[in-house]
Amino acid sequence: MIRPRRLRRSQIIRDMVCENQLDPRQWVYPLFLVEGSAQQVPIDSMPGQFQCSIDVTLKEIERAWGLGLRSFAIFPKIDPKLKDPFGRESVNKNGLVPRAIAAIKDRYPQCLLFADVALDPYTDHGHDGIVENGIVVNDPTVERLCDQAVLHAAMGADWVAPSDMMDGRIGAIRRALDDCGHTDTAILSYCAKYASQFYGPFRSAIASAPLSGLNDKRSYQLNPANRKEAHRELLLDTAEGADALMVKPALSYLDIIADFKRHSKVPVAAYNVSGEYAMVKAASARGWLNEKGIVLEILLSIRRAGADMIWTYHAVEAAQWLDSL
Ligand code: PBG
Repeated sequence: MIRPRRLRRSQIIRDMVCENQLDPRQWVYPLFLVEGSAQQVPIDSMPGQFQCSIDVTLKEIERAWGLGLRSFAIFPKIDPKLKDPFGRESVNKNGLVPRAIAAIKDRYPQCLLFADVALDPYTDHGHDGIVENGIVVNDPTVERLCDQAVLHAAMGADWVAPSDMMDGRIGAIRRALDDCGHTDTAILSYCAKYASQFYGPFRSAIASAPLSGLNDKRSYQLNPANRKEAHRELLLDTAEGADALMVKPALSYLDIIADFKRHSKVPVAAYNVSGEYAMVKAASARGWLNEKGIVLEILLSIRRAGADMIWTYHAVEAAQWLDSL
């Protein structure tokens, strides 16, 4: 008789044959920014996450660094007075994000910093692009995204991460960066970004939910029913020069992560998004789930599916838990 249980008999043998490990150095910790100083505003829909002013964000990065985290992403909550239909604030050199990038890279030059490229924090309608006659227009949006990416690179971002899902933006951003001498700035493409309900808590965190009438992002984000369509995006973004490809969300899309692992020649990232985080937090708060066990299992499943990088709001807590195992 064949007895697979022989390989499960003790912790030592289980450790010996363990196929996947978690390592905080491969995680990206997303941080929310607000204007001001000494600001740390709790995000209701994401318990344990805060909108922080730049000074507080620096302290949070220091704490995370001490736990082994090396990579950070920033998302701004923009003052509604600065929003317009064109997202002009996205290319303001003195805006919140450019100042944050400069401050973070000044204090922690070794960290990897990912700057989001998209217009939704800056548009009054909440879309990732410029809207004309009720339509999110591709090419004028890409032009603005190129300017935004170049600005982030000039301020010191190591990576720009276009999360907008416009066509042709990876190639256009690569050319724009190269033309301005930013040949070392890498591009992480949100390549298979699905039109998902799991982004709800994030949209309330940065107040970017699309206005009614234009109530969803299905004209640019992928249909959750589709798998081949993600593969097509993989081929395009690779050809256009992406340095890494993201699948988003993670948990309902583990099959897509596995496809990407198999077919991509560049590293694969997965974004364990706000709704996934909120579900775990809500159930754990009621005592319905063992939070620590669930979070580590979730991160491991994303890793096993094939993610090289994992973006997760659980990063700090999970790094602490790993430390104490
Ligand atoms: C938009 C953007 C979204 C997220 C990151 N960038 C949401 C959206 O497409 O509306 C979601 C992240 C999360 O839910 O954690 N550019």
